Amino acid sequence: MKKTVLVSGGAGFIGSHVTVELVQAGYDVLIADNFSNCDETNYKGVCAILGKEMPLVKMDFCDAAAADALFAGHKIDAVIHFAAFKAVGESVEKPLMYYRNNLESFINVLEAAKAHGCHNVLFSSSATVYGEPEKVPVTEESPRQPATSPYGNTKQMCEDILNDTVRSTEGSKEEIRGILLRYFNPIGAHPSALIGELPRGVPNNLVPFITQTAIGRRECLSIFGNDYPTADGTCLRDYIDIVDLAKAHVYAVRRMLEGKMKKGCEVFNVGTGRPVSVLELVNAFEKVNGVKLNWKFAPRRAGDVTAIWADPTLANNELGWKAERSVEQTLAAAWAWEKRLAGK
Ligand code: UFG
Repeated sequence: MKKTVLVSGGAGFIGSHVTVELVQAGYDVLIADNFSNCDETNYKGVCAILGKEMPLVKMDFCDAAAADALFAGHKIDAVIHFAAFKAVGESVEKPLMYYRNNLESFINVLEAAKAHGCHNVLFSSSATVYGEPEKVPVTEESPRQPATSPYGNTKQMCEDILNDTVRSTEGSKEEIRGILLRYFNPIGAHPSALIGELPRGVPNNLVPFITQTAIGRRECLSIFGNDYPTADGTCLRDYIDIVDLAKAHVYAVRRMLEGKMKKGCEVFNVGTGRPVSVLELVNAFEKVNGVKLNWKFAPRRAGDVTAIWADPTLANNELGWKAERSVEQTLAAAWAWEKRLAGK
């Protein structure tokens, strides 16, 4: 019998790629999304890649009754929860909106899962929980640092909420098992160029800003800070291909559904283990795509950490997953996606 995975926020950037990988790995997927931060482009792209109309429920997980009805009406074996707001700056401006949306939706998912016999919950966390790490690369044992934004705080709080729920249900018939995946910097797009990142307004993140500058939608990329204590003075990050990242979810879901977890709540870093500077990324983009990018150095951006990258050993060993794609392949995919959006 095929297992069914609910993907909340399945029409978004990460959710759409995860849906594709799950279906290709043999799972049934139910997508739920309220389209508050995306249109139907990625949903349609997912259906085109998979060659079928994917089941879709338009709903808001902040609506507890709707969340309950969804779990009551479907046999859901595992849920992957993406549905959340994700803009760091906006969360500083509108903290209550972020706390209400990101916490309430996750609590409703957990309540509904408990009530209707869904025992497996995967939460999309972030490397942001490590703050400015004292030692790099970071392992799952590296300490979490106080969050610097309400967005980051909601990631930490949702980690705690899942941990507490797992602990409180252990051994009961409502038992919840949890996996927290801490993503580093997801970039790129599906090789088909049918799904990818669709930032609203001016992008905050580096790669969409690069591709929009290259296509002519933005005049110039600002590289925030060239006086960091790194080899070339720009920040170091662990950029992970979105398809590689999506595949980590398939391994994690399989581990849960096959009863292979070693404790009730497990944490895995999802990164490559490879630090790349902003300047290196910009140069790689220009080289692999044969385009010249208009960029300039600008002052540091408030809240940026100097350097963070993953030690992905635990995910490599325990999940049997490893990031495979090179930065060049990923940047080529990001550019193909941007060109397709521009109709070029
Ligand atoms: N950067 C630029 N110019 C830009 C955009 C970004 O130079 O126009 C630089 C940043 O200063 C940083 C690097 O590119 O050094 C990466 O920035 P992103 O915004 O793409 O990603 P972050 O590392 O800031 O974001 C990550 C996660 C978020 C998380 C955040 C917390 O992707 O989910 O860390 O700070 F919230």
